[in-house]
Amino acid sequence: MPPSPIIITLDGWSSCGKSTLAKALAKALGYVFVDSGAMYRAVTLYFLRNEVDLSSEKQVQKALSEIELGFVFNAGRGASDVYLNGENVEPLIRDMKVAEKVSKVAALPLVRKFAVQQQQRMGAAKGIVMDGRDIGTVVFPNAQLKIFMTADQETRVKRRFMELSASDPAITLEAVRENLARRDHMDATREESPLRQAVDARVLDNTHLNPQEQFEMALGWAKEAIR
Ligand code: CDP
Repeated sequence: MPPSPIIITLDGWSSCGKSTLAKALAKALGYVFVDSGAMYRAVTLYFLRNEVDLSSEKQVQKALSEIELGFVFNAGRGASDVYLNGENVEPLIRDMKVAEKVSKVAALPLVRKFAVQQQQRMGAAKGIVMDGRDIGTVVFPNAQLKIFMTADQETRVKRRFMELSASDPAITLEAVRENLARRDHMDATREESPLRQAVDARVLDNTHLNPQEQFEMALGWAKEAIR
C-alpha cells in the first residue's frame, strides 16, 4: 500500500521563503501547494477596487459575498495562480498597493472565516502543502508536519527587494523594509489568529541556507512524517 498522504503546514514571517519551499516540497511529493497569502491578497485587491470601508462589517460582508476565489495550476510557474471572480489576478496581487493593505484586511474576523473555510475544504483530501501565518495553529491544527520558518529581518528585506525590483525599478529598500516590519508586527499582534509558532512545529531558520539546502531539510522531515 502506498503511504497515506499528509498535510504539511508552513507558517512564518513575511518573505522568508515559505512559498519557494512549499512549491518545491509539493512538487517532490506530488502534493497540491496552496498559497493562503494569495487568497488574502486577492480579497484585498477586490476591497481596494471597490473602495470597501474596512470599518463597516456590512460592507465587508457584502463584498465577501461577491467574491469567488479559485486556483488554477500554471505549469510555467509550477504553482497555482489565484483567480478572483474568474480573473487571473496573480500578476496584480504582489505589488505594494496590495502589500500595504493586506495585513489590515487579513486581521478582520469575517475575512479570516471566509478564507479559512475554503482552506479547510482544500485540505480535506490531504496531500497538500499550505503556507501562511495560521495554517498549523488554526486551519490544520492536526497536520502531521508543521514547519515554522524564519530568517533574520535584513535577509528577508533584501530577498523581497530583489524580487519586487525586477518588476518595479522604482521600489526602494527602505519601502520594503518598512512594509515588512509593519506587516510582521500586525500579523503577530492581531487578536484573531495571530502568527504563532505551533507548539509541535519544527523550526527552519534559513538565514544561512540556500533553497536547495532548506528543501533537503524539509523533505527529510516530510519523509519521516509520511508513513
Ligand atoms: O509573501 P509574503 O510573506 O509577503 O506574504 P503572503 O504570504 O503573501 O501574505 C500576505 C499577508 O496576508 C500577510 O502579511 C498576512 O497579513 C496575511 N496572511 C494571513 O493573515 N494569514 C495567512 N494564512 C496568510 C497570509
